[in-house]
Amino acid sequence: MSNLLITGGAGFIGSNFVRYLVENTDHRMTVLDKLTYAGSRESLAGLPSDRVELVVGDIVDASTVDALVEQADAVVHFAAESHNDNSLNDPTPFLSTNIIGTFTLLEAARKTGTRFHHISTDEVYGDLELDDPERFTESTPYNPSSPYSSTKAGSDLLVRAWVRSFGVQATISNCSNNYGPLQHVEKFIPRQITNVIDGVAPRLYGRGQNVRDWIHVDDHSSAVLAVLERGRIGETYLIGADGERTNVEVVEAVLRLMGNDPDGYDLVADRPGHDLRYAIDSSKLRDELGWRPAFDDFEAGLESTIDWYRRNEPWWREQKRDAEAKYALTGQ
Ligand code: NAD
Ligand code: DAU
Repeated sequence: MSNLLITGGAGFIGSNFVRYLVENTDHRMTVLDKLTYAGSRESLAGLPSDRVELVVGDIVDASTVDALVEQADAVVHFAAESHNDNSLNDPTPFLSTNIIGTFTLLEAARKTGTRFHHISTDEVYGDLELDDPERFTESTPYNPSSPYSSTKAGSDLLVRAWVRSFGVQATISNCSNNYGPLQHVEKFIPRQITNVIDGVAPRLYGRGQNVRDWIHVDDHSSAVLAVLERGRIGETYLIGADGERTNVEVVEAVLRLMGNDPDGYDLVADRPGHDLRYAIDSSKLRDELGWRPAFDDFEAGLESTIDWYRRNEPWWREQKRDAEAKYALTGQ
């Protein structure tokens, strides 16, 4: 494998993955990205032009997709509409990008026989009770809650069907909540960091008791590379780093690390249908592929993420204005 097509490579996880591959492999990458509100050229700034090329285009456009998949040795498919709150306000682009976009890529991979890795989320499994001793595994039944997670679940099912019916050479990974640099400020952790920079109190939905299973984005990248290189075709691998924390614990840590009173947050209206808890059992990935996370200290990872947002205000200032204007409409 040397020529990779990376869809959504100008977004948060995709751009971190491209950077990770530049540093840790010899692959050449073509990024196909529509540059929606969530993607930016700046996220790929400084990368060597002989290793990384950006093609601005839509994964729903079959002629663009067919031509690029034809030239690729493998596709890693990150592109998606990714934010739950947006999917509650307007599900339309979620159906188009997450379902039709994935279908378009699968059809291209079917014609060419190209290796395909599909990036998905733990949210396809619904949520867990706070005191449930079980965690999600590859055999947990699908039970998505939001328009976002239901379209991701639909895309996973398309991949499985294209493997079984047409022999597409695909794998799937379902990861928990990522944090790190280059994440859009609509998302929980960067929203609260940039609020504190702006002197605004962090906003917690409901009572802040919901639990997310945090993983550093570079650990997600190393896991995806492991599945791409050594995963069994047709298999699903869950990716997680044992990072369960309540939202209030995360906000308190952000406030403390930024030198503020850890109680200085506001409780705001809850998200409709808000999933209570996600938790990943990543034994299959660890046992079968030998993967281990490198980031075992969440607070240290958070501190370097805070530092990144402090040093990169030009990257986020404009998106912050737009994101907060949207949140103002729902009082969140
Ligand atoms: P993001 O919103 O930051 O980035 C998505 C990227 O896809 C953007 O660059 C955007 O411009 C691009 N895009 C959107 N629609 C497109 C289209 N029609 N054609 C081409 N490009 C398009 O998302 P992210 O947080 O980086 O998530 C990437 C992937 O990882 C998604 O598939 C998401 O479901 C999955 N995932 C995310 C997390 C998380 O914590 N963020 C966890 C598990 C899985
Ligand atoms: O689990 C993986 C998923 O993680 C990915 O599939 C999604 O693409 C990604 O966006 C993320 O989904 P969440 O809905 O968990 O992430 P979000 O950052 O939107 O919110 C994290 C938690 O914080 C969630 O319980 C809602 C809460 N929250 C969020 C925001 C933006 C707040 O309390 N306040 C906020 O201002």
